[in-house]
Amino acid sequence: MTTALNKKERPLVKMESISKHFPGVTANDRVDLELYPGQVLALLGENGAGKSSLMNVLAGLYRPDGGDIFIRGKRVEINSPRDASNLGIGMVHQNFMLVDTMTVAENIILGMADLPFILRLEQVKEEVRLLSTRYNLQVDPDSYIWQLSVGEQQRVEILKLIYRGADILILDEPTAVLTPQEALDLNQVIRRMISEGKAVIFITHKMEEVIRFSDCVRVLNRGRLVAVKKTAETSPGELARLMVGREVLFRLEKEPPDYGEKRLELIEVRAKDDRGLPALCGVSFCIRSGEILGIAGVAGNGQRQLAEVATGLRKATGGEIFINNKDKTNSKPIDFITSGVSHIPADRMVMGAVGDMSVAYNLAMKGYRSPPLAGFGLLKPGRIMDFARRLIKVFSITTPTPDTFIKFLSGGNIQKAILAREIEACGGLLVAVYPSRGLDVGAAEAVRKRLLEQRRAGTAVLLISEDLEELLSLAAPPFRPCPPGADNGPASGTGALAGSQPHPLGF
Ligand SMILES: Nc1ncnc2c1ncn2[C@@H]1O[C@H](COP(=O)(O)OP(=O)(O)O)[C@@H](O)[C@H]1O
Ligand SMILES: [Mg+2]
Repeated sequence: MTTALNKKERPLVKMESISKHFPGVTANDRVDLELYPGQVLALLGENGAGKSSLMNVLAGLYRPDGGDIFIRGKRVEINSPRDASNLGIGMVHQNFMLVDTMTVAENIILGMADLPFILRLEQVKEEVRLLSTRYNLQVDPDSYIWQLSVGEQQRVEILKLIYRGADILILDEPTAVLTPQEALDLNQVIRRMISEGKAVIFITHKMEEVIRFSDCVRVLNRGRLVAVKKTAETSPGELARLMVGREVLFRLEKEPPDYGEKRLELIEVRAKDDRGLPALCGVSFCIRSGEILGIAGVAGNGQRQLAEVATGLRKATGGEIFINNKDKTNSKPIDFITSGVSHIPADRMVMGAVGDMSVAYNLAMKGYRSPPLAGFGLLKPGRIMDFARRLIKVFSITTPTPDTFIKFLSGGNIQKAILAREIEACGGLLVAVYPSRGLDVGAAEAVRKRLLEQRRAGTAVLLISEDLEELLSLAAPPFRPCPPGADNGPASGTGALAGSQPHPLGF
C-alpha cells in the first residue's frame, strides 16, 4: 500500500524489548515494535495477549518495567499521556474517554487550556469544521457527546488527536463498535492520514481488515511477539494460526434443525427507546426449541430494545410476549429469568459484570439463588469455587485465579465469563446480542460452537448480530428450509431474519 517498508527510512516509533508485568501476569515480555512514516501496522493477538498494554505503554498510560522507546530516532521517557501527546502520539482507547455532558468542541480542547476557554472555543469550532471536512470525519462541533452514536464518538476521538497534532495514531479495536459502512469510512480516514506521512497502529480481530488495510502485521501471544509479517506475504489462515497456536475453523458444521416447542413468541410488539422514540413498531416472530433465529441489520435500529423486551428489561408499549406459551408481557425481569431466559447483553461492561467482584462470584451471579450454589438461604463458597473453576476451564477464561476481581481481566475474557454464566444458566431461551463482538478468532469460534451446542440441546436462541458471516453460519437453515408447521417467519412480514430479505429493524 505504501513504500513504508523502506528500511533506510528512520522509524517513527521503535519499541525495544518492552516488558510490562501485572500481579500474576506478564502482559508484555520483551516485545519489539517498529513503525515507519506512512505505514499501517496491524497488531494482532488473542484476548489478553497484551496488545492494549503495549499500546498503553506507548501512549504514556502504563510505565514499562523494562525496555526502551525511541521516537524519530531519539530515546524518550513517556511518563504521561501529555508526554505522549507532545511526542505526537495519540490513542483512541477501546472504551472512549469523552465527557458526555460536554460538546464535541469542548471535549476537543479539554485539558489544553493555553488560551481563555471561550475565546478558544469559537476558533476551535472553526478548526474542527475544517479538519472534519479535510478528513471526511463528519461531526457537528456543537453536538453534545451523549447525542452521538458510537461511530460519531469515535470520529470525535480521532479528530481530537489530529487536532492536537498527533502523527502516530493508535486505534485500539476501532472497528469492533462500528457498522461495516463506518468501518470502511474509517479506512478512508486512515488512508488520508498515511498519505500525509502519519502512521497508524491498529488493533483488530477481523482478518479481512488486516489484509485489506495494513502494510505489516505483528502478532502477540501471551505477551510475547511471535510473528512479524508483511501483510502481502501472509493470509488470514496463517495469522489466525499464529494468534491462537492452532488451526481455526472458519466454517462450522451444523446438523439439520430439530425444532420443538415454541419458546419465545412476540406478537405485534411495540417499544420505545430511551429518548421516547419508537424503536419497535409491531414486531412479530416466534422461536422454537432447537432453533437459532438471526436478526440482521445495522445496530441502532431497534436491536437493543428487542433484546430488552424479550428479556423483560424494557416495557413493551404494545403487543404481547409469550415465553413457553405463557403470557409474560411486561412481567418483571426476574420472571423472565425464572422462566429460563438468559441474556448476553450488548453492553457487557455496563450490564454484564460487576467489576469489583471476583471472577468466581461474577460467574455465580445467576445460580446463587438455588442449589447447588446455595442451600437454606446460604451461599456455599466451596461449591461456588468448584463451579467457577469448571467454567473457567470449559470456556478457557484467562484469569490469574478465580478470586481475581473481574475488572482486571482483558475485555475478551470478561466477555467469555459473561457468556459462560449466561449459557450455563440458560433454561431454554438465550437472547444473545453481538455475542462474539470484540472476541479474537479463537474465542469467537468457541462462542459460536457453544451456541450450536445450545441449539442441539434444545435451546431457542435469538441471535442479534451485525456479522453476516456469523448469522449465516449459525442461523440460516443449512440443508432445507423450515418444515411446514414450524414456520418461524414473521407473521406480519415485520421481522428481519438472516437468510430472508435484508431489512433493517425499523419495521
Ligand atoms: N491494569 C491492569 N491491571 C492488572 N492486569 C492487567 C491490567 N491491564 C491488563 N492486565 C492484564 O494483562 C494481560 C494483557 O491484557 P491486555 O493488554 O488488555 O490484552 P489485549 O489487549 O491483548 O486483550 C491480561 O491478562 C490482563 O488481565
Ligand atoms: Mg485490548
